[in-house]
Amino acid sequence: MSTFPDTDGPLAKVAAYAATYRAQKIQLHPTATLTELRQAFGGDLPDQGQPAAQVIDDLIRAAEPGLVGNTQPGFYAWVMGSSHPTGVAADWLTSIWGQNAGIYQCSPAAATAEEVACNWVLDLLDLPRKSSVGLTIGATMAGFIGLAAARDEVLQRASHDFAEDGLQAAPIITIFISEDTHASNLAALRYLGFGNRNIARIPTDIQGRMLPEDLATQMGSVDGPKIIVGTAGHINSGAFDDFHALADLAAQHGAWLHIDAAFGLWARCSPKKRALTDGIERADSWSTDGHKWLHIPFDAGFAIVKDTAAHRRAMDITASYLPAPPGDGRNATHFNPELSRRGRGFAAWATLRALGRDGVRALVENHCDCAQILAQELQEVPGITLLNDVVLNQLVLSFDQGRGQADADQMTTAMEQALNEDGQHFFRTATWQGRCVLRVSIISLETTPDHVREMAAKMKRLWQNMQA
Ligand SMILES: Cc1ncc(COP(=O)(O)O)c(C=O)c1O
Repeated sequence: MSTFPDTDGPLAKVAAYAATYRAQKIQLHPTATLTELRQAFGGDLPDQGQPAAQVIDDLIRAAEPGLVGNTQPGFYAWVMGSSHPTGVAADWLTSIWGQNAGIYQCSPAAATAEEVACNWVLDLLDLPRKSSVGLTIGATMAGFIGLAAARDEVLQRASHDFAEDGLQAAPIITIFISEDTHASNLAALRYLGFGNRNIARIPTDIQGRMLPEDLATQMGSVDGPKIIVGTAGHINSGAFDDFHALADLAAQHGAWLHIDAAFGLWARCSPKKRALTDGIERADSWSTDGHKWLHIPFDAGFAIVKDTAAHRRAMDITASYLPAPPGDGRNATHFNPELSRRGRGFAAWATLRALGRDGVRALVENHCDCAQILAQELQEVPGITLLNDVVLNQLVLSFDQGRGQADADQMTTAMEQALNEDGQHFFRTATWQGRCVLRVSIISLETTPDHVREMAAKMKRLWQNMQA
């Protein structure tokens, strides 16, 4: 018996629901507790299958109170993304078509959409066009892939055959990475067999940029294969490393240069912001997200590697039952550590096509302009300290009455709570450079300067009240 057509209507039901859900004012904060969510989703697995429409109704009822409004303009807590409606529609098609995008022959359409989307990304980012691109689940996995290629290649340069001998008898590779790097890079290094003793942590300046002089000194004091990991768009400050300095050192030491550019790489799409990334094109690999500035629905990141052979040596899965693609076609297994996988290329292709080159530029510039507006709104307010140079879409704030660090940390936490209280905004704090800071990430698809001005007015009002 065919499970399609949609006899009891779950697909039609979801299509109708989707239109109203995204059109309404979406709650930013979940309202249900963990216990309530467990109860809502809980109960025993039914012996008999339930009617599909009922299942979908139940799912919506159980999930809604536990959803976070990260697609909304009031969401400033993390650099996430809004899942562009065209991307979402393409994502539905991906599931409806039920394709396994592991290799070309499983889904020629998925392989080709992915190939074209990856080429568009290289073009948009103006990175070496012969680079290979893995379409990943996110930036963490993209970093893992870039670093896996790096590990393989620097060992090959040291005459060690990683494919044959693995890491066991390999020369020690040293990874040079900022003291303030994103945690996902350390996780990726751990997955790849590196421990703390293999990792040289390089001090940073106050914006979180690696200090090239310290990098040079530390690289000069170590023999053996080397990998440098730089950052484009620091998670808190949005700062960019000095890529020419990093690339010069990489060239001098025969090192591989990987750049974690989860969101900062997209600055290249704006003529106003591109200079921040100068020299980044000299790197060997880059990891970036699709769900952040492109707003591709989640499950979208790009691992870009200049040396395709190194990329493929690190990733390829081959077996006689997995045919090669035709001609120079693409098996996703060449570039990712997965075999069976979602056809990520459809949503990436559709979102990029819906935005176009101008759309991506406009998004980046709008968010950066909004960040400047917020900085200007707050700059004259006594006690609100802007801790970063606002170069991108990020602000880092501290709320300080001049009564010492502990008090400032307490006030910053209190401000987070006060801002969240009416449910109109979603903020989070972090600990950065030894103090509690309020992070402001401006990335939502629909954020306008008015949203930011309104939020700034609220912040100033609350700050005044807190000091009264
Ligand atoms: C600088 C940086 N690197 C890496 C990541 C990890 O990306 P993902 O969450 O997509 O794996 C993030 C996420 O915010 C980030 O900001």
